[in-house]
Amino acid sequence: MKQALCHISSNAEVMPGIHLMWIEAPDIAAAGRPGQFITVRCGDFPLRRPFSIHQVGKDNVIAGSDATGTKQPQVAILFKVTGKGTLWLSQREAGERIDIIGPLGRGFTIPPRSKNLLLVAGGIGLAPLVFLMQQALSQHQITLIHGASTAVQLYSNSSQLSTISYQRVQFIPVTEDGSAGQKGRATDILPDFLDRADQVYACGPVGMYKAMTEMSSRAKRSKLKLKKCQVSLEVRMGCGFGACYGCTIDTKKGLRQVCRDGPVFELDDIIWQEVSL
Ligand code: FES
Repeated sequence: MKQALCHISSNAEVMPGIHLMWIEAPDIAAAGRPGQFITVRCGDFPLRRPFSIHQVGKDNVIAGSDATGTKQPQVAILFKVTGKGTLWLSQREAGERIDIIGPLGRGFTIPPRSKNLLLVAGGIGLAPLVFLMQQALSQHQITLIHGASTAVQLYSNSSQLSTISYQRVQFIPVTEDGSAGQKGRATDILPDFLDRADQVYACGPVGMYKAMTEMSSRAKRSKLKLKKCQVSLEVRMGCGFGACYGCTIDTKKGLRQVCRDGPVFELDDIIWQEVSL
């Protein structure tokens, strides 16, 4: 874990209300693992904001927006403007410096014998799964279900978002208004893809996790039974590294801190009735 003042390489609104920011952070780019996060000091706000590491790379700035002219290893965050802190962050420009700490938390793990990975993203929950995809792509078959409210909020529709080759990724879009892919939610079509999956990874709103848990517990037969499923939780945080207990949740293994013990947990381990994030 390192704290550093880092240059912003680029910052662009890549989907309505959603920004992709590349930050020159060599140490974090080298040490960060999929599912881990960084915290960013946003202006004068006392609480730092947590963001999943969305990608790492060296040259992955958006064309024409690299103000620093350097090629330092970088990390990207993908964030939605939801309040004053993220609004402040969205207004930062290439060349400015921001105070970040990371990498933090425990990320996703890929079991050794897993070949087929099923990734399930609800909205901006896609952010950490792209880094997972980036790391796993060379040795795994990946299916990504991305649920969004409408077509313009789909990752695949934003051409500048990623340099990841999608040729080996089966991308399944789902939109609530039916403007792209199947109409509905990611969890509606999830059962159709479970048979092939060796491991499931999910990131999205709590409602999505609760729906997955109910689906799994209702199922009497294996067809609908969720296999081992790792989920990434997004919660409000104080310190971000286990000191304030502001992110404690109830699990079947006792109280856990999302920032230190997570943010990735087994879906089955969390007592979802107690969770209100
Ligand atoms: Fe302080 Fe998790 S945010 S303990």
